[in-house]
Amino acid sequence: MEMEKSLSGEKVIVIDFGGQYNQLVARRVRECNVYCEIYSYKTDIEQIKAMNPKGIILTGGPNSCYEADSPTYSKELFELGIPVLGLCYGAQLMMHVLGGKVEKAPVREYGKTEVMVETASPLFGDVSSKTICWMSHFDYISKVAPGFEIVAHTADCPVAAAENREKNLYAIQFHPEVLHTQEGTKMLHNFVRGICGCAGTWRMDSFVENSIQEIRAKVGKGKVLCALSGGVDSSVAAVMLAKAIGDQLTCVFVDHGLLRKNEGDEVEEVFGPNGPYELNFIRVNAQERFYGKLAGVSEPEKKRKIIGEEFIRVFEEEAKKIGAVDFLVQGTIYPDVVESGLGGESAVIKSHHNVGGLPDCVDFKEIIEPLRNLFKDEVRKAGLELGIPEKLVYRQPFPGPGLGIRIIGEVTAEKVRIVQDADAIYREEIAKAGLDKTIGQYFAALTNMRSVGVMGDERTYDYAVALRAVNTIDFMTAEAAEIPFEVLQTVMSRIINEVRGVNRVFYDLTSKPPGTIEFE
Ligand code: XMP
Repeated sequence: MEMEKSLSGEKVIVIDFGGQYNQLVARRVRECNVYCEIYSYKTDIEQIKAMNPKGIILTGGPNSCYEADSPTYSKELFELGIPVLGLCYGAQLMMHVLGGKVEKAPVREYGKTEVMVETASPLFGDVSSKTICWMSHFDYISKVAPGFEIVAHTADCPVAAAENREKNLYAIQFHPEVLHTQEGTKMLHNFVRGICGCAGTWRMDSFVENSIQEIRAKVGKGKVLCALSGGVDSSVAAVMLAKAIGDQLTCVFVDHGLLRKNEGDEVEEVFGPNGPYELNFIRVNAQERFYGKLAGVSEPEKKRKIIGEEFIRVFEEEAKKIGAVDFLVQGTIYPDVVESGLGGESAVIKSHHNVGGLPDCVDFKEIIEPLRNLFKDEVRKAGLELGIPEKLVYRQPFPGPGLGIRIIGEVTAEKVRIVQDADAIYREEIAKAGLDKTIGQYFAALTNMRSVGVMGDERTYDYAVALRAVNTIDFMTAEAAEIPFEVLQTVMSRIINEVRGVNRVFYDLTSKPPGTIEFE
C-alpha cells in the first residue's frame, strides 16, 4: 500500500552504489527522525527531482569510480541545489564527476582509524577534532574537485572529508553509518538536520496514526484478509488493520504444529475472541495434516518445501470458504523489499516469502502492505505504539518452517513435543539469568542422534538436544554466545530430568560462517 501521504513530508534519498551498508545508512538517517528511502543509482534524475528530497546521500560500493563500467551518476545530480553527501565510493564518485582525481591509494586503509577534522565544517559541528572512524578503501581522493576544501584527513589519507559549502556538497571517505565510527551519528545528524534543514518529524506515533487513517480511506467498506503467523511483522500489520477497520478484517492463523510451546494459544489470546480486538479470527489446527505430509521426510530442503506448500494450501482452503475479498494484507517490511532487489542495488540475497508469495492463490483485488517502508526496529516501535504486548513485539526471529528445521531428520509429533519442552526450559532459564535481552537468538534443537545413558540404574537409549545461542547484528554473521557454565548446567539437568526421551545435552559453539544459525 502506498503510504505516500504520511511520507510526503521531508524525505532524504539514499542512492545505492552496491555498498554493504546501504540499509544501515537509511536506518541511521531515520534515527535522526528523518524519513529516508533507498534507490538504485540507475534511478532516473527526473524521478529523483519529482520526489523533492531535502537531501541526497550516495553510498559506498565495491567498484573503482575511474573504471569505464563502474556505477556512476550524471553531473546534474550535483546541480539540483539539493545538498548531497557522498560516502566512501559516493565521495570518490562526487570528486571524479566534478573534476577531482581518484586513484589507487598507496596505503590501503581498513578498520578503526583516527581522523583529524575541521570542526568549523557544518558536517563536523560538535565532533571532536580527533575522532575514531571506520575506513575501508583501496582507492583515495588524491585531488579534490574545484570549489572543494579538505575538512578532514588521516595519517595515510589526505582527503578523509571535503566540502563545497556554497553548493552544499560534502564528501566523506569513511563510513559514518557504521557503529565503529564513534561520532558518526552526530555527523549524519549534522547533515540531515543541519545542512539539509530537516525538521525531524518522522515519528512512529504519527506514522501509526496516519497509516490507520489511510487504511480506512482506502478500504472503505471492503473486506480484508490477513495471514497471521504470530511473528512480529504479521502481528503488527494485523493489529494496525484491526484498529483501522475492525471486523471488516479476517485473520487466518494456520497452526502447523511446528510452533514453540504454547505459542499457538498465545497468538489466540491476543487475536482471538477473548482478545482486545474486534476482528474475525480463524485458527486452523492443521498439526496432523503437516505431520502427515512430513512423515518419512528427512531432507532439509524437502521439509522446507513441504511446509511452505502445505501452508499455502491450508490458507487457500480457508480463503475459499471466505470467498472473494477486496484486499490481502502482507507483513512485508523494508529490508524484504530491498533484499528482493525491488529497492536498492545490492545483490539479491533471498527471494523473501513475503514478497510476491501468497497472493496467487487468493481471490482479491489489491495488496495492503502497511509496514512496507519500515525497518524491523521501527516495526517494533509501531507495535508498542499500537499497544501490542512487549512479549510479542520483542519476540525472537522464528523461521517460517518453525521447529520443522530444528528437528534434524524426520519430524514426528513426539519429536516436536521433545524440542518444544526442551526449548521452553532453555528460554525460561536464560530469562531467569537475565540474559534474554543480551543474546541475539537462542533456541533448542533436536539432533537425530540417540545414545546410551544411565538413569536410576536403568539403561537409556534416547535423543540428544543441542542448545544454540548466538550474538549477531544482522543475522548474516554470528558468533556463539558465552553463556555462564552454571546456567548451561541448570538447563542440561532440567531438560534431562523433565523432558522424557532426552539423555544428553550439547552446546553448539559453531559461528556463522561456517555454520548457519538454524540447523537445517
Ligand atoms: P540461518 O540459519 O540462515 O538463519 O543462519 C538466519 C536467520 O534467519 C532465520 N531463518 C528464517 N526465517 N524463514 C524465516 O522467516 C526461514 O525459512 C528461515 N530460515 C532461517 C533464522 O532463525 C535466523 O534468525
